[in-house]
Amino acid sequence: MLNKLLLSAIVAAFSLPAVAAEATPEAAKAIALPFLKQLAAENQKAVAEGGPESAIQVCKEIAPRMAGEASRKHGLKLSRVSLKVRNPMLGTPDAWEQKVLQGFEARAAKGEKPETIEFSEVVQEPAGKYFRFMKAIALQPGCVSCHGASEQISDATKARLAEDYPYDRATGYAPGQIRGAVSIKQAM
Ligand code: HEC
Repeated sequence: MLNKLLLSAIVAAFSLPAVAAEATPEAAKAIALPFLKQLAAENQKAVAEGGPESAIQVCKEIAPRMAGEASRKHGLKLSRVSLKVRNPMLGTPDAWEQKVLQGFEARAAKGEKPETIEFSEVVQEPAGKYFRFMKAIALQPGCVSCHGASEQISDATKARLAEDYPYDRATGYAPGQIRGAVSIKQAM
């Protein structure tokens, strides 16, 4: 009996997340910023090596994989969300995220730089308390080949996007606009 208790205590101790991030805006930022930086680097690398079209893999495969890795590593959920999504499965914002994204648009309209726009809050949900953090993602000039106006997207890219995302809403953006946000949700 005692052994069994001891064993379950040991198992419980070892199954705690190794590096559970603190639920603070600073800790969330320390996860979101390197994520965005690495994503931008991967994007530049892909464009340099294979042209704009090969960067599709960065947004499509590398970004979700990196988001998954960061989520598991830190014991939270990190995702990219937007009010106009290309991939509704991964990018559709929940009610809180929609409200915050609308707030970001309003702040940008008043002249705040998207690069510095962020928001955090502790929210009570049916299953408990969550720390939530969002940081705006600004559109860079290098993004217009896939998220810009129709004439900025090549026919080859258009064809690939149309095949994979027939309900794509993530075009028509100009550099400096808010493309979406990195969102972090962590149980407290
Ligand atoms: C070569 C094409 C391409 C380029 C360049 C590109 N993206 Fe994307 N982007 C995509 C694709 C494809 C998806 C859908 C990914 C998926 O299936 O989850 C996407 C999705 C996203 C999403 C997730 C929300 C959504 O709409 O599904 C964000 C945010 C995003 N891109 C931001 C950017 C930013 C910022 C840049 C420039 C730094 C950029 N993208 C450059 C192709 C591209």
